[in-house]
Amino acid sequence: MTLDELTHIDATKVFVNGAWIVPAGGQTLPVENPSTGEIIGQIGRGTSTEVDAAVAAAGAAMEGDWGRMTATERGRILMKMSALTLARAEDLAMIETLDVGKPLDQSRRDSVALARYLEFYGGGADKLMGTTIPYQDGFTAYTLREPHGVCGVIIPWNYPMQILGRGVGAALAAGNAVVLKPAEDASLSSLVFAAIAAEAGLPAGALNVVTGLGTDVGATLSGHAGIHHLSFTGSVGTGMRIQEAAARNVVPVTLELGGKSPHIVFDDADLDKAMPVLVGACMQNAGQTCSAASRVLVQRGVYDEVRRRMIGIYEGLVVGPAIGSHDLGPLVSRKQQQIVQSFIDRGKQELTLAAEGQMHPDAAPDGHFVLPTLFSEVAPDHALAQQEIFGPVQVLIPFDDEAEALRIANGTEYGLVAGLWTRDGARQLRMARKLHSGQVFINNYGAGGGIELPFGGIGKSGHGREKGFEALYGFTRVKTVTVHHG
Ligand code: NAI
Ligand code: MG
Repeated sequence: MTLDELTHIDATKVFVNGAWIVPAGGQTLPVENPSTGEIIGQIGRGTSTEVDAAVAAAGAAMEGDWGRMTATERGRILMKMSALTLARAEDLAMIETLDVGKPLDQSRRDSVALARYLEFYGGGADKLMGTTIPYQDGFTAYTLREPHGVCGVIIPWNYPMQILGRGVGAALAAGNAVVLKPAEDASLSSLVFAAIAAEAGLPAGALNVVTGLGTDVGATLSGHAGIHHLSFTGSVGTGMRIQEAAARNVVPVTLELGGKSPHIVFDDADLDKAMPVLVGACMQNAGQTCSAASRVLVQRGVYDEVRRRMIGIYEGLVVGPAIGSHDLGPLVSRKQQQIVQSFIDRGKQELTLAAEGQMHPDAAPDGHFVLPTLFSEVAPDHALAQQEIFGPVQVLIPFDDEAEALRIANGTEYGLVAGLWTRDGARQLRMARKLHSGQVFINNYGAGGGIELPFGGIGKSGHGREKGFEALYGFTRVKTVTVHHG
């Protein structure tokens, strides 16, 4: 099947005010298949003209049909978008696999997750409520939860469908209008999503999708005076620029910026259960996961055993073309491949290489593949134990006791997710309180998952919470009303 047959859209156009338009100047950007390096299509290179039009259309939607709609009606439209997404889940999965190199079985999980986000937030739309407040005699005081207005949602390329689902789904459910800027390496699923939204009856202007360069469309959007809230997922550097831009317009911003998440294994852990999760929590999506468990901290009593078993798993991991649903596909781009490979090369010079995976013979030489790589006995302050690699690379770090585990776990600039394997209930509760992270998983780990679970970071991992019901609060503002009736 060709890309056009899969998408049913002209991807060189952007979606503004319910219509597909050619960006000013008519320029395009290539769509590359990371498994082969081939150019398989083009997307429109949006400009400030389309960003201005999209922000204006979103503002008009807030004043028009969309803004007047009841919460129940909004919820029904999101439910319809969910059903249409499920009906096209297989096409969407294939589009994502071709566009970003995600193994097909993992892309399938993403398209189903997108449908689930829309369902979750569709159901939440009419359950967002204010409160009544006990106040002075003769008064009634209450709060209203109102949408911010026009929300800019800027998403990355690693989980396009999941991240647009959690951002756009929650924003629309809460009654906002959205201008979505997908990543230049991963725009197709967002464009198909726009078509699904239109088919589901979402009023014109409630969702606009402008593709293009981050430094161009993304920067214009984040600095736009017509935006009332910004939500961003991606790198720390870009997140800082977006927060600076938001500051100039004094608008709130939610940032989800990745991490260096620790997975901590104590001597009393159930290793049979832990082992596949320890590795899978980083190898999923070839390590291109904000919440990838890239540091594995192991207590010395089981360190040798965990190391031996991890080596066994690593040696069986296969990297190959995304369409083949191997354990790992390629990385999204040549640039990401080079960044990750340079970390691996540095590790090979400075650290103990414990294990590598295997390259499938079908892996094309121009595909952006890297081998999964495990380093052991890594010092907690080494660059590979401190910096986000965003690839299939894990470091094994030994520790002696709980205090040392906490010190190492909390010893990076990040704080997104932490995993903990222990049967000791008191330790579970103690550690869960003391770990510096937005989520703690005990005897399980949810890299990238958990639609119902509030998610977000501390420190350089960002601020604000997405996913779960919490996201709906983030996409609303509170107005307090007091009535003096005597
Ligand atoms: P990036 O943060 O530059 O890109 C993410 C999004 O921001 C894209 O839609 C991009 O077009 C947009 N963008 C770029 N510059 C912008 C600007 N000045 N203003 C507004 N929007 C802008 O990330 P990139 O370059 O694709 O990846 C670099 C590194 O970022 C990765 O190696 C990884 O470490 C990290 N990253 C983290 C992610 C996460 O889930 N937290 C997702 C993707 C990347
Ligand atoms: Mg691509």
